[in-house]
Amino acid sequence: MEVLIRENADAGCLLGARIIAQLVRTKPAAVLGLATGRTPLRLYHELIRLHREEGLDFSRVTTFNLDEYVGLPASHEQSYRHFMQENLFRHLDIDPARTHVPDGTAADLQAECRNYEARIAAAGGIDLQLLGLGRNGHIGFNEPTGSLRSRTWVKILSEQTLHDNSAVFGTLAEMPRHAITMGVGTILESHQLLLIAFGPAKARAVLHMIEGPLAAICPASALQLHPRAIVVLDEASAAALQYADHYRWVDRNKLDWQRFT
Ligand code: GLP
Repeated sequence: MEVLIRENADAGCLLGARIIAQLVRTKPAAVLGLATGRTPLRLYHELIRLHREEGLDFSRVTTFNLDEYVGLPASHEQSYRHFMQENLFRHLDIDPARTHVPDGTAADLQAECRNYEARIAAAGGIDLQLLGLGRNGHIGFNEPTGSLRSRTWVKILSEQTLHDNSAVFGTLAEMPRHAITMGVGTILESHQLLLIAFGPAKARAVLHMIEGPLAAICPASALQLHPRAIVVLDEASAAALQYADHYRWVDRNKLDWQRFT
C-alpha cells in the first residue's frame, strides 16, 4: 500500500485529482470507478477545473459508481445517481451513456447486481477505483464482517452508517436501509485503487485499514491485498498510524518515475 500524507484535505484532493488526470491523459478511454460522499467533492471540483481550464478530456471515459441506495430513483435528491450528475457528470464532456450507477429501483435487485458485474466486465474492467472510507471501515457499502471476496450485492446498512449518512435525509426514518454495492472482491479486481480519507473521525478506520490485521471486521483492510493501492490522507486521519514516519520517508525518497506529476 502506498500511503501519502498531505497537510490537509485540500492538498490530498488535489493530489487525488492529479492521479486521475494523469490516467485520463495517458489513457483517454479509461474506465474510472467513482465514489460518493463528502470526501471526494473537492477532488471532483478539481477534475472539473482541469476539464474547463486545461482541456482534460472525458469524452471517451467510462465510469462505474460503487453503490446506490435501494428504492431511490435517479430523480431523488439523495440518490447517488443524482449526486454524481450534480457534482461531476453535468460539468464534464462525458457521454451520459458511459456513466454507470447501479439501479436501486430495479424490480429484480439480484439480477441488477449480476448485470452490473457483466457491464464492468464488458467495459474491460476498471482501471482506477476511487474509494472513500466509512467511519466503521466500510468501502462502498460493504459493512464490517461482510465477505472479503464478495461481488456486487445488496447490503443491509449498519446502524452506524445510517446514523453517519442520515444528516442529508432529514430524518433517519426516511433513509433507505439497503443498498446495492460493488463487492470487496469486485473492488479488488480494479487495476488500481485510490482511497482518500480525511479528518479525525476517520483516524481509527485508517489505522485498522493500513496497520491492522486483514479482517472482514474492517472491509477496507482488504486493500492490503492489492498490489497497486494508493491511500491519500491528511494529518488528522493519519494521526493514529504507528508507521507514519516511514510512509513519509518512502514518499520523500521515491524515484522520479514513481512520483505523480
Ligand atoms: C458512504 C458511501 C461510501 C463513502 C462513505 C464515506 O456510506 N457509501 O462510499 O466512502 O460513506 O462518506 P464521507 O466521504 O461522506 O465520509
